[in-house]
Amino acid sequence: MSVPLGSFSTEQFLEHYWQKQPCLIRQAITGFEPLLDGDDLAGLACEQMVESRLVKGTAEAADWTLEHGPFSEADFAKLGDENWTLLVQDVEKHYAPLQDLMQQFDFIPRWRLDDLMISFAATGGSVGPHVDQYDVFLLQAEGKRRWQIAHSFDSTMLTNCPLNVLNQFEPEQEWVLEPGDMLYLPPNVAHHGIALEPGMTWSIGSRAPSVADLLQGWGEWLAFTDHQGGRYTDPGLQAATRAGEIDRTALQNLRKLMLECIDTNQNLDNYLAAFMSRFRLAHDPMSPPATITTKELLNALSGETRLHRNPWTRLTWIESTEGARLYAAGQSYDCSIQLAESLCQYEQPRIRAGMLDQASLELLTRLVNNGHFLLTGED
Ligand code: SIN
Ligand code: CO
Repeated sequence: MSVPLGSFSTEQFLEHYWQKQPCLIRQAITGFEPLLDGDDLAGLACEQMVESRLVKGTAEAADWTLEHGPFSEADFAKLGDENWTLLVQDVEKHYAPLQDLMQQFDFIPRWRLDDLMISFAATGGSVGPHVDQYDVFLLQAEGKRRWQIAHSFDSTMLTNCPLNVLNQFEPEQEWVLEPGDMLYLPPNVAHHGIALEPGMTWSIGSRAPSVADLLQGWGEWLAFTDHQGGRYTDPGLQAATRAGEIDRTALQNLRKLMLECIDTNQNLDNYLAAFMSRFRLAHDPMSPPATITTKELLNALSGETRLHRNPWTRLTWIESTEGARLYAAGQSYDCSIQLAESLCQYEQPRIRAGMLDQASLELLTRLVNNGHFLLTGED
């Protein structure tokens, strides 16, 4: 599969731009044709399960308003021709054919990618100058949009504003993006996109846990597993001298306890992979109403039935002593590296009944019964 980087090679992009500096890629995807349009997006924004927002206002007037979906047709009928943007998250999970686009970004490890957010903007539509904490690929899918960026900026936010909009923004560079063009931005580059005509921007966003996210999750993990990471001890305790004080030695011992629990815990890799497989997941995959047996699954796969990854499951794996440990939305499963890789490679893994040994069949049955894979009738 070709990478969506225009004339840049993956190596050039990763070495010079990824996490380093913005990169404008003209005609990133040759012959790009958006698989959905503004009306399709509005339709999605009317659904209960879909996370959507409507932003109105301009940077000049600083009159930003924000509404959350689900919306109704009447909400859209009221909108004028200018200065509004409809934004919909996780579109690739709601509309499966878009998974192909996400796969083109597989040169970035899948666990680092988040979702496809699509915005439809009327002329003048914008969400204001702002900064994101994640890398993002802004693919212009329809219409023209002007993007302005700045590396140095005052991070003060506009007060009494429902959006994170910078109080002041002095652009250092700007470009007009046309359909097929893409702008990559690393975190912490201020940016402001304004629609010059009605159009869509497709944002392929990344995920990066903060230390707070990781430590919060680690604490919860320790509390819910048998390995509780030990407890404070002080066999060399000296008599207390100052009422109420936690002395230097005690503080050092507490710190040591925390550091050792990260440094020496045998389960840390396990925790990290499990955590990343459920980090920022908007919905939990639900188990099917009826469970299936290995025999039933084998029969199903021998016929026309195919396995299909639940779009709300994040699959990832790490190498283990026995092969691979696969993680699906926080749950872990042991399997071979080959099976882990083929399950992660495609949204619809190319698995036929004849290829499965008993262990693989049992694993797949558990994945189906836990809602991570769905059975579909089509090939
Ligand atoms: C947009 O599509 O309007 C906003 C995307 C972004 O700035 O990250
Ligand atoms: Co942004």
